[in-house]
Amino acid sequence: MADTQMYKVIELFDSNIVTTEGDDWLRHRRLTTRGLGDEVNRKVWKEALKGGRDELGKWLGSDGKMQNLESDMMGLSFGVMWRAGFGMKRAETEIGPSKIPHRISFKYAFEAVSARLFLVTTIPHWLLARSPVESHRRAAGAFGEFERYVRELVEEKTEMMAKGDDGEQMDVLGSFIRSMHRKPSSPNYDKLASTPPTDTLTQSELMADIFIFLFAGHEATASAMYYSLLFLALNPLAQQNLQSSLDTLLSQRPPEEWSYDHDLPALLTGMTGAVMNESLRLMPPFMYVPKIAHLGNGSPELTIDGKRMVVPEGCQVSIALPALHRNPNCWPTEKEVEDDLDRFRPERWFTTKEGAASENGNAAAPKLYRPPRGAFAPFSDGPRSCVGRRFAQIEIVAVLAAVFLTHSVELSVSDFATDVEVDRMPAGGAGRRSVWEKAAARARERMPMGIEESGLGLISRDNARRIGFRIAKRGEERFF
Ligand code: HEM
Repeated sequence: MADTQMYKVIELFDSNIVTTEGDDWLRHRRLTTRGLGDEVNRKVWKEALKGGRDELGKWLGSDGKMQNLESDMMGLSFGVMWRAGFGMKRAETEIGPSKIPHRISFKYAFEAVSARLFLVTTIPHWLLARSPVESHRRAAGAFGEFERYVRELVEEKTEMMAKGDDGEQMDVLGSFIRSMHRKPSSPNYDKLASTPPTDTLTQSELMADIFIFLFAGHEATASAMYYSLLFLALNPLAQQNLQSSLDTLLSQRPPEEWSYDHDLPALLTGMTGAVMNESLRLMPPFMYVPKIAHLGNGSPELTIDGKRMVVPEGCQVSIALPALHRNPNCWPTEKEVEDDLDRFRPERWFTTKEGAASENGNAAAPKLYRPPRGAFAPFSDGPRSCVGRRFAQIEIVAVLAAVFLTHSVELSVSDFATDVEVDRMPAGGAGRRSVWEKAAARARERMPMGIEESGLGLISRDNARRIGFRIAKRGEERFF
């Protein structure tokens, strides 16, 4: 079962879907999944396509330089959660409709609290506010602002729903609010509280789940998008394969004409899905899934190399996803290439384990390789697996398609040659190739590929942040 103690550090406001067990957890889970249906997925698709195009516009506006790809991806996925998941209409960076003005934006308050989670979940806030240490007082200030924002967010959404302003939409926040236990005297009670009392959340539980959705949802998705772009920049041939498949699927249609019902399934099961899966295989946003052996939960036995082992009650077991995802018994590999499973090779998802080309070449009905159950678990597996899996998958493939149909992402070589020097080198010549190789070698050094190097954190891979990128129109790439 889930080792919920490990997650106490993200218990802000109250217990939440991640830190509860048994009936309590089921209640959070039921309410959450109710708000994550097809209606929301369609909005995720639309918002992610728009987000991808907006980022493109921003990068092109700064002369192709992608100054901080990681924070761009975080901003994009925060916006998708805000508009599609929470159904909010105003921009997430706009200061909220408060009588007492806020000092910082909602997004900034959230980021400030996330960066200081350990402090705000372990030390009483009154103590932090009086601490002689400045960073403690800042943490208390950010928490105070964030708490006020979340209360206002709930009020704002409740009003939108009562007025019918949210188009009767069932999104994550709407589902939570509909289920919040309200006193019959509340003016919105009749309209909003139609569910039985067992399916309710208290105000503080609702606030806690809002935080979890922002925290777990948007950071993990941003990490997956960031690494997909990084892997593609490092592997130009895979990038070209992706672009050819997008040409076939989408031809020159603009994203506004792409269809959720036809184009999305083709993207998910084609090369775009393969790129996403391969990136999640090598660099899963959650490196470990913490579990705890529980006798009441079936027999905690493992069979390792034919030997039966018993895992004692209460034993903590951490599933190291990067190791799990490199099991040579479970994946198609290029046998002649040593460490093939450490390589980013999305094409592997189009072969069988025996190495034969699968039927996936068929663009009309592609199908990706299906590893044995348990061998690929970036979203975990079983009852505690990720509720936002579909949300995230749609967002990732939409952004990849919106960017790569018309543009390419290149490594920046500015540490090794200026733009003028690169322009002087003949296209396709050894000079350009050589500076690119240097930039690629530097980027590989900075990428945490092993579990020991990568640590536990989500996207907190400081070295990888120092890798520079550029965006180029297709046909205007400088190196390939
Ligand atoms: C690429 C993106 C994502 C990845 C790789 C990911 C991965 C995971 C993993 C591995 C777990 C299980 C954690 C554990 O058991 O210890 C999990 C749980 C969870 N995820 Fe995600 N996630 C992603 C995106 C999202 C999104 C977009 C949302 C919200 C819309 C979300 C909401 C949640 C929630 C609420 C849980 C807790 C489920 C429970 O305990 O019942 N995730 N996720």
